[in-house]
Amino acid sequence: MAIQWFPGHMNKARKALAERVLDIDVVIELLDARLPASSANPMLAHLTRGKRALKILNKQDLADPQVTRLWLDHYNGLSGTRALALDASERSPSQKLISACRELVPNRGGLDKPLRVLICGIPNVGKSTLINSLAGRRIAKTGNEPGVTKGQQRILLADDFELFDTPGMLWPKIEVTQGGYNLAASGAVGRNAMDEEEVSLELLNYLMLHYADLLQQRYRIESVAGLKEIDVLEAIGRKRGAMLGGGRVNVQKAAELVLTDFRAGLIGPITLERPEEWAAWLQLSREYEAQRQVERVARELENASRSSRLVEKLEREADGPAKVKAPPKSKTPGTGGKIWFNTTPKTPGKPKPKGAAGAKPKPKGPAKPGKGPVKPKKPR
Ligand code: G4P
Repeated sequence: MAIQWFPGHMNKARKALAERVLDIDVVIELLDARLPASSANPMLAHLTRGKRALKILNKQDLADPQVTRLWLDHYNGLSGTRALALDASERSPSQKLISACRELVPNRGGLDKPLRVLICGIPNVGKSTLINSLAGRRIAKTGNEPGVTKGQQRILLADDFELFDTPGMLWPKIEVTQGGYNLAASGAVGRNAMDEEEVSLELLNYLMLHYADLLQQRYRIESVAGLKEIDVLEAIGRKRGAMLGGGRVNVQKAAELVLTDFRAGLIGPITLERPEEWAAWLQLSREYEAQRQVERVARELENASRSSRLVEKLEREADGPAKVKAPPKSKTPGTGGKIWFNTTPKTPGKPKPKGAAGAKPKPKGPAKPGKGPVKPKKPR
């Protein structure tokens, strides 16, 4: 799935973060409890490596509590890392957050050594809401479109506890295909940068596997067993009156409906990934990527060998019975003076437009699972 989500201001945010992090004691990463791994920023992990980390699984009210437990155990088992789950209903999150940070860096504190903490998270993860609640007043601008929080700010949570806010930040390449779908389903990706039908079908695929009861209850479907995702989506469309003329289901509308329901928690408390699932997806993606690299190198070698066969043929012809004078041999360093034939095509293929940041990719017609570029097979 092509998601274009790395607009310019995110690049600026990355640079600002790289500078800011130098004198920071703890990095708090706000994760979406429904997709803790997909909502973790790999670029942040790189920029803040070696720093103590507090992972906050936010919006826990929307997530499956049993799976949240699994993720908390997972993160608490990592060295230099603590994790806690929160949601906006928490009356005083600052106590929990401050004591988790102090535990992580017990040697900091007091006016001469204030604890400096950085808070990061992808857009829409609930960072502004949490900061407002921590500060006891409205500080950062909140909103439902990704990327609303702007600039960096410092908030004093205690005399010796400084919290630095950063703008919501994304990263240029999504490594795990399923992670992209999960981010899109959660609302972290702007509407214009995804295909809602494709995302809703992936979401339904997961819900049918792990939360079939919730799905059946919400949409009053007798059983989703044995159905395809598209059948379920159409059934939902029919139940909810998302129809076109001639008795056809308005699949786009049904897809929007499912995504809106999921984001608002109306289907039920759901988490879209478990630690061991994520590990398997990640491994598959890496194997797939490694395979692609091998194939690319093989293609390049094949092209190089074809070019050199062509050069040899032309050289033979030039030295043949007709004694055609060979063109002067190039003195290009590294080529042994042999390659004088320019193998670059005269009219190189039209470069593919990169696509403006944040621009809506051209719809390719209704997305069908299994169509499009080959993806690593998802383990279920
Ligand atoms: P951001 O700064 O990270 O971009 O996120 P922000 O705080 O603006 O929150 C994004 C949306 O998520 C808001 O909803 C907010 O109310 C909601 N939200 C934040 N924390 C929680 C939580 O713990 N649980 C749930 N269920 N929702 C949470 P919105 O629809 O954009 O705005 P509104 O509901 O405030 O009107």
